[in-house]
Amino acid sequence: MDIYNESLGLNIPCHVGIILDGNGRWAQKKHMPRNYGHIKGCKVMEKIRDDADEIGIKYLTVYVFSTENWSRSQVEVDGLMRLLRNYLKTCIKRANKDNMKVVVLGSRDRLDDDILTKISELEEATKNNTGLTFQIALNYGGRDEIIRAVRKLVKDVVDKGIEPDSISEKMFSKYLDTGDAPDIDLLIRTSGEKRLSNFLLWQNAYAEFDFPEVLWPDFNKSRLIESIERYNKRDRRFGGVKEE
Ligand code: IPE
Ligand code: IPE
Ligand code: MG
Repeated sequence: MDIYNESLGLNIPCHVGIILDGNGRWAQKKHMPRNYGHIKGCKVMEKIRDDADEIGIKYLTVYVFSTENWSRSQVEVDGLMRLLRNYLKTCIKRANKDNMKVVVLGSRDRLDDDILTKISELEEATKNNTGLTFQIALNYGGRDEIIRAVRKLVKDVVDKGIEPDSISEKMFSKYLDTGDAPDIDLLIRTSGEKRLSNFLLWQNAYAEFDFPEVLWPDFNKSRLIESIERYNKRDRRFGGVKEE
C-alpha cells in the first residue's frame, strides 16, 4: 500500500527496489579504477537509504552483488568484499540508531566466514527494529533464490507432510529470502540498462519499472523523488480494468 507524503504531494511506494548500476563506467569516465566507483557507490547507497526512510519508504531493497558478479576480476571482487567488510563494521550501530531492520538476501555459499558471522550478528541485532526494512541483496540471484526455496519446501513436504495441493503463492513466498516482505512496487535501475539481471524475479511480478539515465554514483535524493513522481503517473491495474 502506498503512503501519501503530504509535503511532497506524492504517493510513496511501500517497497522500492534498486539495481544500483554504473559504478564501473562512472570510475572509468574519470580514468580511475572500477573499485573507486564502488567506494563512491557505497556512500551514495547509505545516503539514499536515509533519504528513502525520510521520504516514507517502508522497504528498500538494493542489489549490490549478484551470483554472476563472481566472474569479475579477482581485484574487483576483492575490492567489493573489502568494502562490504568495512560497511558491516559500522552497520549495526547505525541501524539501531535509526531503528532500521537489516536483512541480507542471497546465498550464503562462497562468502567468507567472517562476513557470514557479521551478517548474522547484524540481522539478529536489528530484527526487532520497527523503522525502515533495509534489504541487501548480496551474492543474490533470483533463480538461485527460487531453487533454494523449492528445496526447503520439498524438505517440509517430506518431513512435515505438507499436502502439495495446499501450496499457495502466499505460502511459497514465505520460503523466499524476502519472507514476509511485500512485493516490489517500484523498481529503479540506474545507468540506462533495461534488464532485471536476475533480481527478485518473483517479487517484481507487478512492479513498475523506472530506468533513470544516470550512473549510480551520481544518483541522489532529487533523482529518487523524480522516479517516484513518474511512479505516481502510472496506472497500476494488476490485470483488472480501471473504473471510469
Ligand atoms: C554496479 O556497478 C555494482 C555492481 C555490480 C557490484 P557496475 O560495477 O556493474 O558498473 P558498470 O555497469 O560496469 O558501469
Ligand atoms: C546487476 O548489475 C547486479 C548488481 C547491480 C549488483 P550487473 O552490472 O552485474 O548486470 P549486467 O551484467 O549488466 O546484466
Ligand atoms: Mg553493471
